[in-house]
Amino acid sequence: MSSVAQQDIPQHVAIVMDGNGRWAKKRFMPRFFGHKAGVDTLVKVVNHFADRGVKYLTVYAFSSENWKRPEDEVSGLMGLVLVAVSKYLTKMAADGIRIRIIGNRETVSQKLRDAWEQAESVTEGNSRITLSVAFNYGGRWDIVQACQRLLREGVPPSEVNEETLGRYTALSYAPELDLFIRTGGELRISNFLLWQTAYAEMFFTDCLWPDFGKEEIDRALAAYAARDRRYGGLRPAPLVAHA
Ligand code: IPE
Ligand code: IPE
Ligand code: MG
Repeated sequence: MSSVAQQDIPQHVAIVMDGNGRWAKKRFMPRFFGHKAGVDTLVKVVNHFADRGVKYLTVYAFSSENWKRPEDEVSGLMGLVLVAVSKYLTKMAADGIRIRIIGNRETVSQKLRDAWEQAESVTEGNSRITLSVAFNYGGRWDIVQACQRLLREGVPPSEVNEETLGRYTALSYAPELDLFIRTGGELRISNFLLWQTAYAEMFFTDCLWPDFGKEEIDRALAAYAARDRRYGGLRPAPLVAHA
């Protein structure tokens, strides 16, 4: 059981699920083996976060830069999405998980687009936790597409501000990001949620994604609960007893 009080639980957590390749390599297996294990991990992890009271989980599954990988790895990852949807969608729907996909759908195959649409429509009525899967996603792409849509709709410059632009970003339906986690030991954002990380708390762990589970989740939640979020302001001054 977690010892963190419910009011200290973040509403919205994002994860860079990194380290699948190294996890497989350690086992003398091909990288794809790690990606497959990574999908199984995600299905468990989303339930653990939901059990802890987290309402929004956003995960980085395929970045706009991951196209640079060898063709067989890229096509393997695309195929894995289709397998994952057919293997897990029914279970996730039954678990009360709402699935949303963020990212550029224009440059992925029709098959993949159909799978995403199916996952979204089947889980639409769920509210235990919203799992947003960032696929073919880049933080810079997100800001650019928000600007494009805003211009296309004829929003005048005088009405462009942080609030209106934010409404056009891919996660506009979710509350502010509270906690950003990266597994796999790298200390960078890798073009994930640039707009949304403005005041997120950061948690980096060496744990490789397929090994991520309850224990690490509770470590991250405990670290988050101990943070002092000031948003540029000051902590309330301590009361000084006057004689
Ligand atoms: C993250 O794991 C998953 C994707 C980028 C799809 P990696 O594939 O980057 O694994 P490492 O970092 O090489 O171990
Ligand atoms: C970030 O991991 C992308 C995902 C986890 C989907 P990468 O392994 O692609 O990032 P870099 O290359 O270490 O920055
Ligand atoms: Mg990596």
